Amino acid sequence: MAIIGIMDSGVGGLSVYREIRKILPGEHFIYFSDNAHCPYGEKSREYIIDRLRHITDYFIGRGAQAMVLACNTATSAAIAMLREEYEIPFVGMEPAIKPAISDTTSGTVGVLATHGTLQGDKYQTTRDKYAEGVRVLEHVGEGFVELVESGCLEGPEAEDTVKKSLKPLLDAGADRIVLGCTHYPFLLDTLRKVAAGLGHPDVVFIDPAPAVARQLAAVLKEKGIGTDPLARPETEFISSGDPAALKRTIKLI
Ligand code: DGL
Repeated sequence: MAIIGIMDSGVGGLSVYREIRKILPGEHFIYFSDNAHCPYGEKSREYIIDRLRHITDYFIGRGAQAMVLACNTATSAAIAMLREEYEIPFVGMEPAIKPAISDTTSGTVGVLATHGTLQGDKYQTTRDKYAEGVRVLEHVGEGFVELVESGCLEGPEAEDTVKKSLKPLLDAGADRIVLGCTHYPFLLDTLRKVAAGLGHPDVVFIDPAPAVARQLAAVLKEKGIGTDPLARPETEFISSGDPAALKRTIKLI
C-alpha cells in the first residue's frame, strides 16, 4: 500500500481526490487543505513556493511516497522547484486546454482559472503549443473559490457570481470551457444552469481531474510504488485552518 499526499489551497483538491479514489481504491491518502492561506490565486510565486515546501516536508515526514498538487495555481508556481529539491514523484494539474481545442466546433474555447494559473508559464506554453487556429479566451473565476470554501454552491448569490465570469466567454462563442481551478467543479451545476439561462445549454465544461488521477496511477506503476487493490482504503483529512469547510465538502464527494 502506498502513502500519497494530496494538497490544495483548500477544498478544491477534493474534486481530484474523488477521481483518484475511484481508480486507486486501496491506498493510504493524506489530504492537506491549506485553508489558513487560501486563496492562492492572487499570492506571489514566492509565497506559494514557501507553502509548498512546508507541506511537502510535512508529507515526507509522514512517509508519503508520492505527492499530488491538486491545485493548478500551486502546480504552476512550484512543481518545477519541488521536482528539483525532492526525490519523491510529484503529479500536478494539467490545464485541459488540449482536449478543449481538439473538440471545439465553434473554434473558440474558454478557460476559467485563477490569476496565478493564467499568468504562469506552464499554462501559457501549453496554450501556445496547441492553440493554432483556435481562439482561446481566458477569464479569472472571480469569487468562485470563496463560494466553494464557504459552501455556497447554488442559489442566487452563486449564480450571480458565476455569471459575471462565464458570460463574456459564452457571449464570445466559446463552446468548450476548461475548468482550470480544482475548486470550480463544485460549481458545475450552477455553471450549467447559468449557461442554459444565457441560451447555451450545450456548452461543455472540461475537468482535468480524471486525467490527473490516471497520471498518478501511471507514475506509481512506473516507479514501482506498491498499490494493493484489496487493501482497505484510508484517508486522513488535515486542514491548516478551520476544518469546517473540509468537513462540509467531504460529504459531497
Ligand atoms: N484550487 C486551486 C487551483 O486549482 C487554487 C484556488 C485558490 O486558492 O485561489 O488553482
